[in-house]
Amino acid sequence: MTNWVSFYDFKHSVIYVNERHRDVHYRKIAQDIAAYVPSPAARMLDYGSGEATSADLIAAACGHLTLVEAAPHVRASLAQRYAANPKVAVVRPEQVEAMPEASFDLIVMHSVAQYLTAHQLDEILALFRRLLKPDGLVVLGDVVPPHLAAPYAALALLRFGAQNGFLGAAVLGLIRIFFSDYMRLRKTTGLSHYEEGEILTRLKVAGFMAARAEENIGHNQRRMTFVARPVTPG
Ligand SMILES: C[S@@+](CC[C@H](N)C(=O)[O-])C[C@H]1O[C@@H](n2cnc3c(N)ncnc32)[C@H](O)[C@@H]1O
Repeated sequence: MTNWVSFYDFKHSVIYVNERHRDVHYRKIAQDIAAYVPSPAARMLDYGSGEATSADLIAAACGHLTLVEAAPHVRASLAQRYAANPKVAVVRPEQVEAMPEASFDLIVMHSVAQYLTAHQLDEILALFRRLLKPDGLVVLGDVVPPHLAAPYAALALLRFGAQNGFLGAAVLGLIRIFFSDYMRLRKTTGLSHYEEGEILTRLKVAGFMAARAEENIGHNQRRMTFVARPVTPG
């Protein structure tokens, strides 16, 4: 396993301590994301959607939802899960790169920035700028600030487990993760962490006017969500 996409493509129980954790996680972020949908007709993109087991909640709130997933097995399982839902499309990153400009009203990328190099993040922000309608919105969620990210993530998981009936599994999951490929990849490939000001600057350079949202999407409130609108030249 040499990179984060292949890590996420592997059928594993490291990130989600059990199915209940996976499902309450995706339900919570789907509810939070749905709150950003600007209108029932909105065309929406979720970049790096992961298993997205509650994407039907988002699809119900918007006109059309495109899920972009780089990991082939995750993508195949998404395609199967939503095959009967005409409002959901599942695509590869290269397919979304080929889409025409101004295709979307809302673009969300949640819990992905930490797995990208700063250069990759800049390229994706430039892509979002091209794909977004002039009055559209980009939401960048779960951006991880530097310093004590791992202990805060562990505490947030335990709290989330206690609130949702999987505290025991969360404790075991934390022990498992310590000996997993996640820790190996963290050392070899690394994770990207950003201060609030760094993300705001990157969004500005990419052509957005942005602000940090009061609440992060999902269960870890130490991480940050940013809301960005395109700046129109002139
Ligand atoms: C923690 S999951 C996030 C899934 C979902 N958005 C969520 O919040 O639960 C990280 C996602 O980032 C994707 N990813 C990691 N590295 C990537 C890269 N270089 N390019 C595109 N996607 C990447 C993985 O395939 C995975 O779906």
